[in-house]
Amino acid sequence: MDIPDTFTPPQRVLMGPGPSNVAPSVLKAIGQPLVGHLDPSFIKMMEEIKGMLRMVFQTKNEMTFPVSGTGSAGMEFCFVNLIEPGDEVIVGVNGAFGGRMVDVAERCGARVTKVEAPWGQIIEPGQIEEALRKVSNPKVVAVVHAETSTGAESPVAEIGKVVKKAGALYLIDAVTSLGGSPVKIDEWGIDAIYSGTQKCLSCPPGLAPVSFSPRAMKVASHRKTKVQSWYLDVNLLAGYWGEERVYHHTAPISMNYALHAALKEVLEEGLENRWRRHRQNHLALRSGLSAVGLELAAQEGYQLWQLNPIRVPTGVDEAVIRKALLNNFNIEIGAGLGPLKGKIWRVGLMGATSTRDNVRLLLSALCQTLNENGHKVDAAAALAATA
Ligand SMILES: Cc1ncc(COP(=O)(O)O)c(C=O)c1O
Repeated sequence: MDIPDTFTPPQRVLMGPGPSNVAPSVLKAIGQPLVGHLDPSFIKMMEEIKGMLRMVFQTKNEMTFPVSGTGSAGMEFCFVNLIEPGDEVIVGVNGAFGGRMVDVAERCGARVTKVEAPWGQIIEPGQIEEALRKVSNPKVVAVVHAETSTGAESPVAEIGKVVKKAGALYLIDAVTSLGGSPVKIDEWGIDAIYSGTQKCLSCPPGLAPVSFSPRAMKVASHRKTKVQSWYLDVNLLAGYWGEERVYHHTAPISMNYALHAALKEVLEEGLENRWRRHRQNHLALRSGLSAVGLELAAQEGYQLWQLNPIRVPTGVDEAVIRKALLNNFNIEIGAGLGPLKGKIWRVGLMGATSTRDNVRLLLSALCQTLNENGHKVDAAAALAATA
């Protein structure tokens, strides 16, 4: 083959389920010259990342750092370190990522009890309480905080209370929630948590911020069996991200620069301000949609601010509209997964993407495209409702 031209990506408005758009400071950070992964300047920056992650995660946990890998690596990190073959694990499944947790736990040899709800609905704390009564020796209860496949937010604080009463470890997927809505590790009694960089932290994908409570660390360091994964063994990673600084693997240097810059953006804006911005833009989108008869598919009262599942009107071809938004307006939105395939569009308002201008852009582009495809809506009414 001929040597291709230098790759020049199109300028997209990333309004799907992630990645989100990235601040210029983050893109600039990625382009900085490399240093070694044991360079004193890099080690200082690693400490700053850990400190900023503790602030964003609202925790004092010493073992708080970014795993090298995407959100899924964070998921594997939590399960492989805490689970030994035969352990009993309860997993909330109300969407794609709860299902993936089950798969990962089973691969670690866990005996899994699924607590299920229809996609778009939440897992009630009472359902977890009931499962905890039935399972003889539950070691871990795992729940997805923000189900990106459905747009529903789990009542993580309330479920935490029943998990604490039962004495199990509490494991949370915060891939889509962190940086867009409150995540409070210490207050909510979370023992193990993982996130991703490409959603509400507005950083490219490639790192998985994680945190283990002292209790989770104790479990991981007193195992009867070796952690199944060498790469994700927290006991080995603690040697690199902890005091000693011994070589474990070559950290993705530039990604850590990017995360450092992204966390600075989050903290300079302020967590409360950032959560408020996400909430307000979600509400503006919701009003605009409602003005033209479009509705969100997730359970009322538990709708995510950062991921909006718009129900596709009867007679409209989901894929035709989604492709037109990309081709004609450079707007990326997501399709439905699993039982919601063809039934919803997933519109992300995550991190830097969550602006009033983007809400209005999406509404006008969506209305125009629907009109061109025979579904008549009043774009002016949608925009007026966002004011
Ligand atoms: C809730 C949730 N968990 C886990 C993941 C997996 O993360 P990644 O794709 O970064 O590996 C995603 C990605 O969309 C997610 O939304």
